[in-house]
This record gives sequence, structure tokens and C-alpha cells, in this order.
Amino acid sequence: MEKPKILIDTDPGVDDALAILMAHRHADVVGLTIAAGNVGLAHTTANALKLVEVIGASTPVFAGCATPLVAQPPEDAAFVHGLDGFGDTGYTHSARSTENEPAAQAILRLSHEHAGKLVIVALAPLTNLALALRLDPELPSRVARLVVMGGAVNGRGNTTVSAEFNIGFDPEAAHIVFSEWPQIELADWELTVRHGIDFDTVARWVRADHPIARFFDAISRKTRAWSQERGRPQLALADPLAMAVALQPDIARHTQEHHVAIALDGLARGATIVDWDDRGDARTNARIVMDVDQARFEALCASALGAG
Ligand code: BDR
Ligand code: CA
Repeated sequence: MEKPKILIDTDPGVDDALAILMAHRHADVVGLTIAAGNVGLAHTTANALKLVEVIGASTPVFAGCATPLVAQPPEDAAFVHGLDGFGDTGYTHSARSTENEPAAQAILRLSHEHAGKLVIVALAPLTNLALALRLDPELPSRVARLVVMGGAVNGRGNTTVSAEFNIGFDPEAAHIVFSEWPQIELADWELTVRHGIDFDTVARWVRADHPIARFFDAISRKTRAWSQERGRPQLALADPLAMAVALQPDIARHTQEHHVAIALDGLARGATIVDWDDRGDARTNARIVMDVDQARFEALCASALGAG
């Protein structure tokens, strides 16, 4: 069977790294388009290039927007992922470089080259995707699926009271994507929390005798320690969970389809407002993943690290 063609828009990021590893194990990854988010664009592109080198792949990496579309960048997530986004291990940078084509244009070109087959997995602020949509509003007609890691569907955010990081970092971009994309498959932060992974399980995975496991062990150490010190009961792996949904759609055991809007102002800026009871006239634009098969999710993570 032909492997799915996946384009990953990402801001690596420790959890992005595991998601990218999963995709390379199970899909044909046609490109990584890079956003600023967890840390600045120079770091997120360097991290993506390093990861491709560690994997031993030739996946092209396209640098995208260094800032949100409209607003000043809010606080990044270096306190979770390390100042360099990869746990400050001091790794040797890859000798590879990014492609000359900007991320938004690469998204459009790849959507033509793989028209009808491409699965876009958005694991970062939606800046690059919004820009691509503005350049070509017909983009969704060529894309088979758009899976987004983002939002907190009941308003329990992880970056402000109500906003999840990817949406809260660039709400205007998210507003464009949610307003104009016909159907988004949404794996939100609250789903991530419900599907956390025991720290012992992750520790076992990263002990696998495999270079990729050793690399992930090193870059994830700070994040794991930070999460445990904060008293989190499990490790939240947001981007891998979204990637699991992208790779194995039937891993989602329960979904709900509703309209999701993005709040742009005030205390709720960056919140995902879900019309749970379909009160409004706005069309359904999201299939919200409510529950996934935990054992299959963990198996996908483990195999990406050579531990499965
Ligand atoms: C999301 O924000 C980032 O910090 C993670 O990489 C993930 O994409 C979780 O809210
Ligand atoms: Ca991310």
C-alpha cells in the first residue's frame, strides 16, 4: 500500500521532534515547513535540519515566517523546550541548509505536486499556512486532509487562561485558517492531557539501543524534568498525538463535528470557541478528536524511537 504523503508545518520543539520521527517511520514526508513558535525561527530551522540528519533522510526543509502575521510575538516556550528548542544539548549543527523557497510557497507547490493526496499536519502556530491560504484560497481543494494540533476546546489553555500555545501565538493566522479551511481535524491540548504518557514509559523508550532514541533522550531530558518538577502526572506529547491521528485516522475512537472560531480580543485572545450545541449558523469546520486508542498511540511513539 502506498504510504501517505505528509507535509509537516512545525516549530521543533521537543514534541515536534517525536512527531517528525513518527512520520518518517510510517509515511512519505514530502517536506518540513518551519514556523517560529516554541523558539525563534533560527533555532526551529536548525533543529529541523539536525533532525533530518539524525534520521538519515533527505527531506527538504523550508524556512517560513519569523513572526506572527500581525501581532508582536508573545512569550515563546523556551522554558519548556530549552533556549534552543531542543533541550540545550549543544549539538553540532547540521551542515545542511534550508531550501531557497519560502515555506508558504513550498506548501502551495507541494499541494499541486501531490494534489488530492497530500496530508498537511500543522504542529506550530498557523502563520505559514495562513499566508499560503492568502496567496491561494484554492489550496484546501488540493489537500486530502489537514490535521491541526491546536486549541483548548473547553477553554482550558496552556499558555493563557484560555489559549493553547499554537493558537495563542498567532491568533490572526489561526482565524484565517479556521475561517477558510472547509474541514480541519483537530487534536487539541485537552485531548493531549487526557492522553499523557507515563514518565517511566518514556524513560523506557529512550533507553532503546538506537541512535534516534539516544538523540531524543538528550533533547527531551529538560522537558521531561520540567514537567515532573511541575507535578504533572504524565508527559504531554501534543504533536505526536496529532501525528498519530494523521498517520492512522481510525486511531481516533470518538470525534465530534462543530464550528470552531478563534477569539481575537481581550482575555480570551487565542481561545478556540466551539459551538458544541450547534446554536449558530456557521458551518461545521472542525472534526474534534475526543478520544484516541492509547495503546496504538504509544506503539507509534515507541516504534519511532526504535523501541517498539
Ligand atoms: C503545542 O505548543 C508547542 O509548545 C508544542 O510543540 C505543541 O505544538 C502544545 O500546546
Ligand atoms: Ca509544535
